[in-house]
Amino acid sequence: MKILVVGSGGREHALAWKFAQSERVSEVFVAPGNGGTALARNLTNVDIAVMDFKGLSDFAIEQGITLTVVGPEAPLVAGIESHFVALGLKCLAPSADAAQLEGSKTFTKNFLARYNIPTAQYESFQSVGPAKRYARTLGLPVVIKADGLAAGKGVVVAQTTAQADLAIEDMLSRNIFGEAGSRVVVEAFLPGEEASFIVLADGANYIPFATSQDHKAIFDGDEGPNTGGMGAYSPAPVVTDPIASRICRQIIEPTLAGLLDEGIHYTGFLYAGLMIDQTGAPSVIEFNCRFGDPETQPVMMRLESDLAEVCLAAVDHRLEGHRLEFSDSTALAVVVASKGYPEAYETGGVITGLEIERGSEVFHAGTQLTADGLQVSGGRVLAVAALGDSVLAAQQAVYQDLEKIAFDGMHFRRDIGYRAIAREANLIDR
Ligand code: AMP
Ligand code: GLY
Repeated sequence: MKILVVGSGGREHALAWKFAQSERVSEVFVAPGNGGTALARNLTNVDIAVMDFKGLSDFAIEQGITLTVVGPEAPLVAGIESHFVALGLKCLAPSADAAQLEGSKTFTKNFLARYNIPTAQYESFQSVGPAKRYARTLGLPVVIKADGLAAGKGVVVAQTTAQADLAIEDMLSRNIFGEAGSRVVVEAFLPGEEASFIVLADGANYIPFATSQDHKAIFDGDEGPNTGGMGAYSPAPVVTDPIASRICRQIIEPTLAGLLDEGIHYTGFLYAGLMIDQTGAPSVIEFNCRFGDPETQPVMMRLESDLAEVCLAAVDHRLEGHRLEFSDSTALAVVVASKGYPEAYETGGVITGLEIERGSEVFHAGTQLTADGLQVSGGRVLAVAALGDSVLAAQQAVYQDLEKIAFDGMHFRRDIGYRAIAREANLIDR
């Protein structure tokens, strides 16, 4: 079969890399792809934008694509699934209705409340005064979120009332996130440790991927502004087997059942961003209707099952009986960003040292293949991922290989996985 992956990030590179390993897959196209997918011998870039639904479906028809898999959220929220389905094409993607779980925080919070799915106490506001007053009732820290899609940047964890007020004004009066911030959710801060729990759903059944954990802050020690993710590893040690079962029972199953109740058959990847508290109780921080980036990179490194086969089973609504097998190793990925990210960042620098011989994989994101070589074209540039017998071993392998890579303004965190490594060393007791 032929597969078309829609997107251009590290997530799409990792998905395409995994699809290409399937014996059942003859060709993998990536639209529009990046410098890394351009260089990979077994992948082919096609120059079609992710929001050009007609361009994508025309290509799928011309090429006889068996399955299109959509990476990023914007085309999902805009309804790419119904466009493909109306043409009789198979597209692994939740419908626009289902994608509201990511597209609107107010929708999600109200949905969670309706079905008694654990999440932080909250209210949603369109005017400044009431939002500020409610924030004061929640104590500090308090969390302010733009309602709509803001590329992972629309959340402020305010440590002071002044910060909370500023965030509310930025979103509601100064419109720094445009339409996405015309409504805000103000919610209570949840203490604990975060984990990403991603499943593949076929409308009725689901199968979980291995757990993972990412680092959202730009600087070491989880300091500085949030990014799309600066590194990730799998498994997430905080999610023990009993906690994983609890997540399935208390969060994933009631969510899929609640959606069905409302006439929504969720098909595709569903990503629950969770906070696990001291007692092991999970709460939903957010849902994404796609795979995580950079969680995809370590999870795909560990996946031993045929990704194409299960994705096809999901679109055909016959996931029942399937399961996913993962290597017992730990995988860890470190994202390399361009100077300035997550604010305005530098582009155009030439990247050298990518000829990595050992076991690491380099998944590209903001790179572009030009006549001058491989150039930086995005904020998150690439991720180096490796497997190891422990989190520490995987981390050491990644950083060793990362030393060889260079470009002007290169920035990466040096502590990805630190919590898991401390846990491994029994420094953290829970
Ligand atoms: P979100 O985009 O909703 O995932 O939020 C981005 C990040 O903000 C999360 O990964 C958390 O680190 C943090 N965050 C969001 N909501 C909360 C909350 N209620 N309590 C604690 N941290 C939160
Ligand atoms: N790494 C977080 C996300 O993909 O949203």
